[in-house]
Amino acid sequence: MDQAFTRRRFLKAAGIGLAATTAACIGGGYIATLAPESAVVDLTFVKESTMSRRVLVTYATRAGSTAEIAAAIARTLSDRGFAVDVKPIKAQPAITGYDAIIIGSAVRMGRWLPEAVDFVRMNQSALNGAPVALFTVHLLNTGDDEASRANRAAYLDAVRPLINPVAEAYFAGAMSFARLSFLDRLIVRMLGAVEEDRRDWTAIEAWSEDVLVEA
Ligand SMILES: Cc1cc2nc3c(=O)[nH]c(=O)nc-3n(C[C@H](O)[C@H](O)[C@H](O)COP(=O)(O)O)c2cc1C
Repeated sequence: MDQAFTRRRFLKAAGIGLAATTAACIGGGYIATLAPESAVVDLTFVKESTMSRRVLVTYATRAGSTAEIAAAIARTLSDRGFAVDVKPIKAQPAITGYDAIIIGSAVRMGRWLPEAVDFVRMNQSALNGAPVALFTVHLLNTGDDEASRANRAAYLDAVRPLINPVAEAYFAGAMSFARLSFLDRLIVRMLGAVEEDRRDWTAIEAWSEDVLVEA
């Protein structure tokens, strides 16, 4: 996706896209907003030792790329000896019994998905009593310059006042039109977005090797 796209442009396109959908799909608008079924990742990695520290990796996704990153993080943590559960945030997983929690969200329209923010809000006190690491999956503002860094940090504006994460990661995501809802496809096509997969599995693994080391 072109780095020049700003959140404002996304919002503007969303407005236009919404209007177009409403006009085109009266009666069928509900179906038009549904995303095609994207794989739900719900996994448990348990090593033989019963002494393993338990980690929950929970994620919010629309098109599946964040779920796949969550699974990759969990695999590395499991190789490091943690017992790991991977759960969609939409399943509202309980966080009791975990020694650490990793929360990840895709970005839409310049912010974390609402269910991820709600999850943090609902579990705020428990999350403040445990090591929490966050990861964010996005396609804009991936540069090393100050503006990119500030813009991607702003994706977490709604959650940052609520918790004190021990680590924060930003991973480049993916765009697959077949995995988008009709409305999202309309928006990204209007913005000239292209299909791409910019996930850097080496960077994801490297972060998973280090995260929670001190926790
Ligand atoms: C409708 C739409 C809006 C998006 N808005 C943003 C955005 O504001 N900033 C950004 O960096 N990426 C944005 N993206 C890119 C997604 O964050 C990226 O495709 C991510 O990998 C999606 O994760 P998912 O596959 O788990 O849903 C947007 C993508 C779509 C389809």
